[in-house]
Amino acid sequence: FKIPEIRNEPMRSYGPGSTDRQKLEEALARLDAQAPFDVPAVINGKEVRSGDIQPQPMPHNHAKNLSNYHAATPEAVTAAIDSALAAKNDWENLPWADKAAIFLKAADLIAFKYRYDIMAATMLGQGKNAWQAEIDSAAELVDFLRFSVKFVEQLYTQQPSENSEGVWNRTEFRPLEGFVLAVTPFNFTAIGGNLVGAPAIVGNVVVWKPSPAATYSSYLVYKIFLEAGLPPNVIQFVPGSPPDIVKQCIDHKEFAGLHFTGSTHIFRKLWKDIANNIDIYRGYPRIVGETGGKNFHFYHPSADIKSGVVQALRAGFEYSGQKCSALARAYVPRSLWEGGFKDELVKQAKSITIGPCTEFEHFTGPVIGRPAYDRITGIIEKAKAQGGEILAGGKGDDSKGFFIQPTVILTKDPKSITMTEEIFGPVITVFVYEDKDIDATLKLIDTTTEYGLTGSIFGQDRQALAHASAALRNAAGNFYINDKCTGAVVGQQPFGGARASGTNDKSGSISILYRFISARSIKENF
Ligand code: SER
Repeated sequence: FKIPEIRNEPMRSYGPGSTDRQKLEEALARLDAQAPFDVPAVINGKEVRSGDIQPQPMPHNHAKNLSNYHAATPEAVTAAIDSALAAKNDWENLPWADKAAIFLKAADLIAFKYRYDIMAATMLGQGKNAWQAEIDSAAELVDFLRFSVKFVEQLYTQQPSENSEGVWNRTEFRPLEGFVLAVTPFNFTAIGGNLVGAPAIVGNVVVWKPSPAATYSSYLVYKIFLEAGLPPNVIQFVPGSPPDIVKQCIDHKEFAGLHFTGSTHIFRKLWKDIANNIDIYRGYPRIVGETGGKNFHFYHPSADIKSGVVQALRAGFEYSGQKCSALARAYVPRSLWEGGFKDELVKQAKSITIGPCTEFEHFTGPVIGRPAYDRITGIIEKAKAQGGEILAGGKGDDSKGFFIQPTVILTKDPKSITMTEEIFGPVITVFVYEDKDIDATLKLIDTTTEYGLTGSIFGQDRQALAHASAALRNAAGNFYINDKCTGAVVGQQPFGGARASGTNDKSGSISILYRFISARSIKENF
């Protein structure tokens, strides 16, 4: 049999008066009226309410919680691991087409039945506007699920090409022995779905620790997996305090893999904890992580100013800069800067509208919560104290939601705090270089930070682009030429970076599946 042809889910526009807009508004109103939702842990398909209730506030209206979730107790986490391990054999042995059917059905349920609900949960809980929610919790999530089926088909049909006479060589792709722990972020509902989905589709059982700030959308995705037919114990849903749950999982002797998206600092800590436990495990756990970034745009003097500015604003300020791929540092030659780039950038940055995600007219919304708000506004103040010039924005308002104006900082020091430290907020810092210093600037971009996630170069001079691309070969795992550094599409631009940005195992590609399988080479003599 063949799987259906897999294509990227078409994006919808939610224009005024459209049916999509109307249905999304209905979902938003319904969820807002019903909130706070009571979210349990789900272990072996059973809802477990610990009574240790934690809030998930709405970033645009922090007086209100989207959900109150029951933090999983240590006993519940143990039960989740035991139950996952008990499910392992049956899940592993289920023919891959049956697993594929579950994922294809989950994708259809999201695309056609629950699209507006998941989008509304992502908007109210994670502060996305409609367009950003569509990109994430509708299109990308659906793509991850459908493309994982395509990749799994490719994987399982890969076999050794040579067989000598009387011999049949073949490769069997086994899941890992033990369980996989997925630790998922707040900023993309889709990433949560993929961090659990990719290991599961190749036969692994998974313990899912969702981000507290994305609890409700993660819970909806989890319930959709179950509705699609996923056996209830294959993925266990354990919300709660990250350090406790994660530690308990990686201290377990059956821990076999970590699928993580989050900060570099936490990932390094977990890597060390896993290393310290190495003697207790059956094998060497697979450690897969996508972590921090300090992403760049480099403008060559031949770049087009108008489109260069638009790409910077989109990359830096969509979703208030909370994509791991978001633009943080821009390098602009003096000729362009004084030739209109500055005026255009400042004018447009100041015209960006910011407001509650439920109002459709705003370009961007709040940052995710109190710690993020305090950290980002604190960094802006430090940048000012270091001599950074605020060209646009710079202020916050946390009276109702956690709003920070799209902020453009001009720095004379290419190693200043906002050029080096990850901010994860709506802040672009510009360094103006002299046109004659192109090589020195490329070197600066490559060496200023420890990260290597995304980056873009802009220019019309093809030779110059080739030169910059070679000079920045290791500076970004997702590299764009005349496009913004955000917006990787599943199946088109596999996503991930190296250096301190992660293990670069490329979500949205077949590569990620290799990390969660352990092949057996079989030779049979006839
Ligand atoms: N994949 C997203 C992007 O490319 C970030 O996680 O923007």
